[in-house]
Amino acid sequence: MKMNIGNCEVLLDYPIANLEKLIGEKRAVIITDSNVRKYHENKFPKAPVIEIGQGEEIKTLKTLEQIYEKMLNLELDRASVVIGIGGGIVCDIAGFVASTYCRGMKLILVPTTLLAQVDAGIGGKNGVNFKGYKNIIGTFRQPDAVLVDTSLLETLDLEEMKCGYAEVVKHAAIADEKAFENLENCDDLFSVSNLKDIVPKCAAVKVNVVIADEHEHGERMKLNFGHTIGHAVEKILKLPHGQAVAIGMVAEGKIAVQRGLLGEKEMSRLENLLEKIGLGTKAKMDAKEVVDAIRHDKKRRDESLKMPLLCGIGNAKIVEVSLEEMERVINDLY
Ligand SMILES: NC(=O)c1ccc[n+]([C@@H]2O[C@H](COP(=O)([O-])OP(=O)(O)OC[C@H]3O[C@@H](n4cnc5c(N)ncnc54)[C@H](O)[C@@H]3O)[C@@H](O)[C@H]2O)c1
Ligand SMILES: [Zn+2]
Repeated sequence: MKMNIGNCEVLLDYPIANLEKLIGEKRAVIITDSNVRKYHENKFPKAPVIEIGQGEEIKTLKTLEQIYEKMLNLELDRASVVIGIGGGIVCDIAGFVASTYCRGMKLILVPTTLLAQVDAGIGGKNGVNFKGYKNIIGTFRQPDAVLVDTSLLETLDLEEMKCGYAEVVKHAAIADEKAFENLENCDDLFSVSNLKDIVPKCAAVKVNVVIADEHEHGERMKLNFGHTIGHAVEKILKLPHGQAVAIGMVAEGKIAVQRGLLGEKEMSRLENLLEKIGLGTKAKMDAKEVVDAIRHDKKRRDESLKMPLLCGIGNAKIVEVSLEEMERVINDLY
């Protein structure tokens, strides 16, 4: 399946072996991390490799500087192609590099985690962290191509897979009821043969949302479902992103239930699916601390914010929610 975001070709379920064809005669450099290199280097096209470390801590300007230096040594120029092969961290860094080195180079992304295949690798947002703020330095820059090969997920560990599923559920919940039902009925969510069907459908949700609103003025905000409270939970409880987003989706779902946008039955479907995946749906937390973290995250002192709420499974809308309402709902939850 092939989709387009402007000039960006999103090739869903496309073997990595076809990368050579996409590069053609152009000079290329591969940016990857040590894990991905270890497992998949034998499938990389012939090109120099720049390997970065792992973890959120390496998403810094310093890492960028090291990459730029290596690129200078390789005498790469604007006509060369940057190929990012890795999870969301590699995709975000490779995207920023391609967007800035020589004022912009060609970019091909090959996302290798479930999260990156349905989310981070698609949509043209990139960036690094700075002074404790996530992704605060970055650009909007569509890649020339995104190649999604689900067979690369074979080597991904179970915890990473579960975390990626939080975004899969998010996409189905905000825009594709049929995909949500398929997840509910799937007998083995972690088998790569089932992911071959699941990933393209949920990646397509992101592609369509980005087509509708590339620069996040409205529709694209729906992708934040579960993330307003999720990011706060991630920070306070130091949970992995996907686990925090699962808790965030449930808490934000309850706000929707209280507002009469989401039925109790639909709320239970969301909770049951997350539990089936093995993601927690609740955590003990202090509502005031959560709301303070949200305020800090937004970098402003407003007493309300715009966020997506579910109105049914497969449907979401952007509404204004006051922090006071949020605090009340979180307080009632735990
Ligand atoms: N740009 C966007 O729109 C966007 C959207 C969502 C998330 N993100 C960013 O994505 C990042 C998180 O991405 P992530 O969850 O993919 O994390 P990640 O890139 O750190 O990858 C997770 C782990 O899996 C390993 N790994 C990657 N592919 C593998 C494979 N095929 N087999 C075995 N191991 C593999 C990595 O080495 C790493 O240890 C965050 O920094 C977040 O800000 C960006
Ligand atoms: Zn997320």
